[in-house]
Amino acid sequence: MSFASETLTGDKPAQYVQLASQAAALLDGEHDRTANAANLAALVYHALPHVNWVGFYFHDGHELVVGPFQGRPACVRIGLDTGVCGAAARSRETQRVADVHRFPGHIACDAATRSELVVPLVDDGGLVGVFDLDSPILDRFDEQDQIGLERIAQVFVDSLNWIRRD
Ligand code: SME
Repeated sequence: MSFASETLTGDKPAQYVQLASQAAALLDGEHDRTANAANLAALVYHALPHVNWVGFYFHDGHELVVGPFQGRPACVRIGLDTGVCGAAARSRETQRVADVHRFPGHIACDAATRSELVVPLVDDGGLVGVFDLDSPILDRFDEQDQIGLERIAQVFVDSLNWIRRD
């Protein structure tokens, strides 16, 4: 499955490397969490084919609260004990779900969603939130997608610690 962006070339892993570079360039010099999450959600949503939701949930100390995203309006608060997002936040491990209908407790924000990938965002041992991608295609995300999107999520976490040098 190739990327929608015409500026990316090569096989899928190579395209993810380029997308991560674009993400790093986009966030360079800015550490505002909302600004960087908004731009990253837009970049990834428009680069990847067959995704219907790309965005962030942030941990407020108790639960996950929706942040910047692209896609249909989503549920606002998710407990750490529910859904794919809660599982990623709780376990701090990426959740790659081939068929959300088979995931106990999946929260259906958009009825069209069939598969999902959620990457936990951990900064210096602290839970920041999760980066969530939904697809209307069954089994949309493979291991290459997981590796590529974990790399992009790390670009976001790294950006939070960007220190103004001037
Ligand atoms: N499906 C997620 C909820 C968030 S939406 O997909 C945007 C879950 O089960 O945690």
